[in-house]
Amino acid sequence: MATNYAGKMAEKAMGHGAHNRAATTDISNPARDGGKYADPSGERMKALVWMGKNDVRVVETPKPKIIDAHDVIVKVTGSTVCGSDVHLLHGVIVQTEVGDILGHEFCGVVESVGPSVTGLKPGDRVVNSFCISCGECRYCKMKLTTACERTNASTVQAKMYGSQLSGIFGYSHFVGGYAGGQAEFVRAPLAENNLLKLPASVPDEKGLYLSDVLPTSYHAVTYTGVKEGDTVAIWGLGPIGFMSCYWAKKRGAKRVIGIDGNWRCDYAMAKIPGVETVNFSKLTANETVPDKIREMVPGGVDVCIDATGGEYGKGFVHKTELASGMEQDTSEMLNEAIYATRNFGRVGIIGDYVGFTNHFNIGAVMELGITIVGCGQAPVHKYWKELLEMLEKGEVDPTIMLTHRFRLEDIDKAYRLQEKREQGLVKCFVETRFSAKRCPGTPELTIL
Ligand SMILES: NC(=O)c1ccc[n+]([C@@H]2O[C@H](COP(=O)([O-])OP(=O)(O)OC[C@H]3O[C@@H](n4cnc5c(N)ncnc54)[C@H](O)[C@@H]3O)[C@@H](O)[C@H]2O)c1
Ligand SMILES: [Zn+2]
Ligand SMILES: [Zn+2]
Repeated sequence: MATNYAGKMAEKAMGHGAHNRAATTDISNPARDGGKYADPSGERMKALVWMGKNDVRVVETPKPKIIDAHDVIVKVTGSTVCGSDVHLLHGVIVQTEVGDILGHEFCGVVESVGPSVTGLKPGDRVVNSFCISCGECRYCKMKLTTACERTNASTVQAKMYGSQLSGIFGYSHFVGGYAGGQAEFVRAPLAENNLLKLPASVPDEKGLYLSDVLPTSYHAVTYTGVKEGDTVAIWGLGPIGFMSCYWAKKRGAKRVIGIDGNWRCDYAMAKIPGVETVNFSKLTANETVPDKIREMVPGGVDVCIDATGGEYGKGFVHKTELASGMEQDTSEMLNEAIYATRNFGRVGIIGDYVGFTNHFNIGAVMELGITIVGCGQAPVHKYWKELLEMLEKGEVDPTIMLTHRFRLEDIDKAYRLQEKREQGLVKCFVETRFSAKRCPGTPELTIL
C-alpha cells in the first residue's frame, strides 16, 4: 500500500504520459469517472476487483463500452488466476488502485467491434495477449511487444527503470491501467493486434493459455537458448516453471531439474517424463539447493531459469529486509541459480522482480562469465502464432498443468488457493455463464 501511495504521488508530481498513446489508457473499471465508460444499455456484469492489500472481491459493475475506434468488447468464456495476480493481491505492484478490474489471461467471443476494426467480427472466438501493444512502434515491429512504446502512460516506470513496459490487461496503472478479463466482459484495445482468433479445433481450455503461460515459458527457454544436450535447472514449479521444464525437455535437454519446496515437485515428475526435482523443504540443514544440483550435475548446469518471484524471501535475512522495506526483491533464488551454473553458463529471470535487491552475487557473475539472459515480460506476439499451430497439430497440450475448474463467482477464493498453492492447484480454468460445455478430459467444476 505504501508503494501504491508513493507511486500515485510520484505520478502526480511527474505528470501522466498520456500523450502519443495508441489507445485510451487508465480505464481500469467502466465505473470510473462517473460511469462515463459504461455501456449505455445500463447492463451490469460480474468482475473481480482489487480493493486493497490482500482484498480482492467479485462485484457487480457496468459492462464496458467501445471507447476507441480499434476497440473490441469480448464476452469472456474463460479466464484464470496467474502467479502474477498473487503479487497484486499482496499489494507489491505499484499504482494498483481500488476498484481496478484484474486479469490478464482470458478468452471469449467478440461481442461488438469499433468502427475501424478489420479482421474481427462479432461471434469470432479469440484469446488475448496479456501485453497490449500498438503493432507499429519500433519494438512492435520487432515483435518485442512488451516493450511497446505507445500503450502505457505511467511515468513512474520510466523513472524507475529508465524505460517502460507496454500496457498489460488488468495489472495496475503501472502498466496502463487497463481493465482485466476476470470479468464477464472486457474491452480489448487495438484489438486486431491484441486478440488472436481461435480455430474450432482448439477449445478454450487449451487456447486460453496462449495469453500468457505458453508464450512466457516458451520465451524463457528460447531466449536462454536451451538446446539439445543442455543441462537445465528451473526454480519454481508453478505453471511458468512447470511449462518451462516441459519445453526444455521437448528441446532435447539432457537433464531438467525443477526446484520447489512442496508437492509441485511430485506433480512435475508425474506429468513430464524424465524431469528430476529438488524439494528444498526436504534438504537437511547442511544441504543447499546449488550443492544438490552440483552433486547431480558435476561442474554445474548450462542454464538456470528463475520462475519464482522476488517477493518470495526464503531465509531470515531477506525475509526481514523485505518486511522492513530494506529491499524490494530477494536475491536468494538468483544467487542459488548463479551458484549452480557452470562457468560461462546462462541464467534467465522469468519470475517477476520489480525493484532493488540486496546481497546479489555480482562477483560470481563477473568472474565466471555468467550471462544473464532470457528475462523480460514475455513478448507474446513473437510466439503465439507458432504456439497456436502446435496446439492445432496436438504437438503441445497445456492441459497437463490444468488441475482445477472454478466459477467466476468464486474467483476471489481461487486467489487464496493460488496464493497458498493448496489443494493440488497448479493452474485453473475459470468459467463464466457464457462458457461452452467443459472440454472432455479437463477437470470437473469445483464450487468453492
Ligand atoms: N515474465 C513474464 O512474462 C511472466 C509471465 C507470467 C508470470 N510471470 C511470473 O512468473 C512467476 C511464476 O508464475 P507462476 O504462475 O508459475 O506462479 P506460482 O506462484 O504458481 O509459482 C511460483 C512457484 O515458486 C515456488 N517457489 C517460491 N520460492 C521458491 C524458492 N526459493 N525456490 C524454488 N521455488 C520457489 C513456489 O512454491 C511456487 O510453486 C511469478 O513471479 C509470475 O509473476 C512472469
Ligand atoms: Zn499471467
Ligand atoms: Zn508498439
